[in-house]
Amino acid sequence: MAHVVVTRPLIENGLKELQDAHTVTVCDPPEGAARSEDELIKLASDADVLLTVLADPVTERVFEACPNLQMVAQYAVGIDNIDLDAAAAHNVVVTHTPGVLTDATADMAWALLLGAARHVTAADQYVRDGTFERWETTLLLGTELADKTLGIVGLGRIGAATARRGLGFGMDVVYHNRHRANPTVERQTNAEYVALDELLATSDVVSLHCPLNEDSHYLIDADALATMKDTAILVNTARGAVVDENALVEAIGDGTIAAAGLDVFEDEPDVHPGLIEQERAVLAPHLGSATTEARTKMAHMCVASITAVLEEHDDVPHRAVENGSQWK
Ligand code: GLV
Ligand code: GLV
Repeated sequence: MAHVVVTRPLIENGLKELQDAHTVTVCDPPEGAARSEDELIKLASDADVLLTVLADPVTERVFEACPNLQMVAQYAVGIDNIDLDAAAAHNVVVTHTPGVLTDATADMAWALLLGAARHVTAADQYVRDGTFERWETTLLLGTELADKTLGIVGLGRIGAATARRGLGFGMDVVYHNRHRANPTVERQTNAEYVALDELLATSDVVSLHCPLNEDSHYLIDADALATMKDTAILVNTARGAVVDENALVEAIGDGTIAAAGLDVFEDEPDVHPGLIEQERAVLAPHLGSATTEARTKMAHMCVASITAVLEEHDDVPHRAVENGSQWK
């Protein structure tokens, strides 16, 4: 029987099929935020399959130290924690879970967007603090979204789903990507392709949906923030390091932009103290795919991929071949 090592518990019953057919070791969550390479190697040294999350550093050293490893099944769509070249060099198949968390993540982008546009977290606090004494004409005035422009950076699945929601709110949609999206996606989202600078300069909301790679690291830096409108809201449900967090703290603090809705951070789970203090930042602990539906489907996808590898099927579903490059 193959040995499948799962680096932390998944949603209940998510691995049932696998547990019936193979030896599955489900590890306790790490004590801190993430495991070190050495800790991961200790858990995985005799594994045939490793089921990982973003916080697991699947590096060259891990592949070297785990000689039986045939496969890494990532319980996420993003795979920036996995060295894909090293995986290929060691003949290890890498799979991920695209598609099933698209709507969940787009919903989360909108939750943060609406939260930032209408001061939802500050309003909640206001009520709980007992400050609500009377209806006031200018209390916590927000901004409307109808007839405003939504700029999508990265019109992949999640970007497109976020854009489609924008149409329902009466927004105009522009996008930027490495390559122009196909005409069907452009039609479904009614999104106009523009250069990144134009997107930043004209959008009332900028929502990030690109993968993290060398090209997208600090894509939103001080210059990019300075290009944005001073009324603009930045939403990030992609990866923290797409944004220079220091520059963002300054930009919100000095009014270069109006607000941010952030589900991801540069150095998770640490969050810049300047963001913690900033009422105009709405913050969430990386919850993009955190719905029962998405997390269940993600588990089933991992199981389908693992089964295909262990049963030596010709086609392994949901293989990750490159760390997304379509956005820039
Ligand atoms: C979550 O961030 C994912 O990539 O699935
Ligand atoms: C991820 O699913 C994406 O392509 O946006």
